[in-house]
Amino acid sequence: MRRLLVTGGAGFIGSNFVHHVIEHTDHHVTVLDKLTYAGNLASLDGLPTDRFTFVEGDIADAALVDRLLADADAVVHYAAESHNDNSLNDPRPFLDTNIIGTYTLLEAARRHGTRFHHISTDEVYGDLELDDPARFTEDTPYNPSSPYSSTKAGSDLLVRAWVRSFGVEATISNCSNNYGPYQHVEKFIPRQITNVLRGIRPKLYGAGENVRDWIHADDHSSAVLTILDKGEIGQTYLIGADGEKDNKSVVELILTRMGQPGDAYDHVTDRAGHDMRYAIDSTKLRTELGWQPQYRDFEAGLAATIDWYRKNEPWWAPAKDGVEAFYASKGQ
Ligand code: NAD
Ligand code: DAU
Repeated sequence: MRRLLVTGGAGFIGSNFVHHVIEHTDHHVTVLDKLTYAGNLASLDGLPTDRFTFVEGDIADAALVDRLLADADAVVHYAAESHNDNSLNDPRPFLDTNIIGTYTLLEAARRHGTRFHHISTDEVYGDLELDDPARFTEDTPYNPSSPYSSTKAGSDLLVRAWVRSFGVEATISNCSNNYGPYQHVEKFIPRQITNVLRGIRPKLYGAGENVRDWIHADDHSSAVLTILDKGEIGQTYLIGADGEKDNKSVVELILTRMGQPGDAYDHVTDRAGHDMRYAIDSTKLRTELGWQPQYRDFEAGLAATIDWYRKNEPWWAPAKDGVEAFYASKGQ
């Protein structure tokens, strides 16, 4: 049995990981989460009280972080400001949490000798052309585009420096776009599903040609647990499930699955600096650590996600009006 500290465990992917760990291991999990607009305690409902503790707090609070790391065998660090559109509107919280928060955790891990796994994104590599046969690998140079992705890139580089200079026992994973239940309605797929449920037309940025490499959140969680168990200290692993789709196709799939005409969406103002395409080559994780994704049928996973949002309006409805008001103010 190990004692895991999971930062950001009330968010979309962090909460999925907490449920995954409780189901598949005998570890004890402590979640440290600030409960920003993106954190939701309801995503952690049903966990056994003898194996799960929740602590509300900020990863940049050095005294709190020091106390929690003293009692942890490993930290899995999900907490972040995670949305590109918010980072274009107000970058400051991204610096505070993604950079200073990660630094604060690394310093505590250094003091206590705590195993550290850092959750990051494929966006640190910038973007690819639509017709480029290349995909991102662990050797692709960093080239982030947005305030969000540049602060994630900065946090990755801090982790690498703390491994090399201070001997912190850390690994890093960079994953592609996740989908599944419990994702905030500001993000692309939940926004469009809940728009249709509310009778609002889906909103596609620009021409909708941008490609994202979709992976189910359950597969992300199984990959992170694999790296925590078998990953080599100091190494980076890319996580992806060969799920490239352009945004227009995803909107059309959502509409037709929900009984609407496939073209019943609006083109809206494009995102500033909008990355064109992400694509992950996860050969290293698959061959060296033996991980495989379980969700190989995107349309089936999307259909189950649509059903979840249909059945769980009390989970998402409180955030919906505010998110749409924000987007409307930006012409999106
Ligand atoms: P999310 O926005 O849904 O959740 C973030 C969580 O972090 C929330 O619960 C929030 O309350 C918490 N948090 C924010 N600031 C905090 C702070 N200062 N102290 C403590 N807690 C704080 O994000 P997500 O989509 O679940 O992403 C989680 C992680 O995974 C992030 O590091 C993100 O960069 C990474 N990631 C996300 C994706 C994706 O597709 N969503 C893909 C690859 C990597
Ligand atoms: O690649 C991993 C990243 O995926 C994570 O690091 C981020 O935390 C996560 O938010 C996600 O970033 P994206 O910017 O790719 O995700 P988002 O859901 O915001 O948008 C997905 C695509 O859909 C992108 O091309 C922008 C577009 N979009 C988004 C919204 C909200 C639309 O066309 N319409 C929309 O309403």
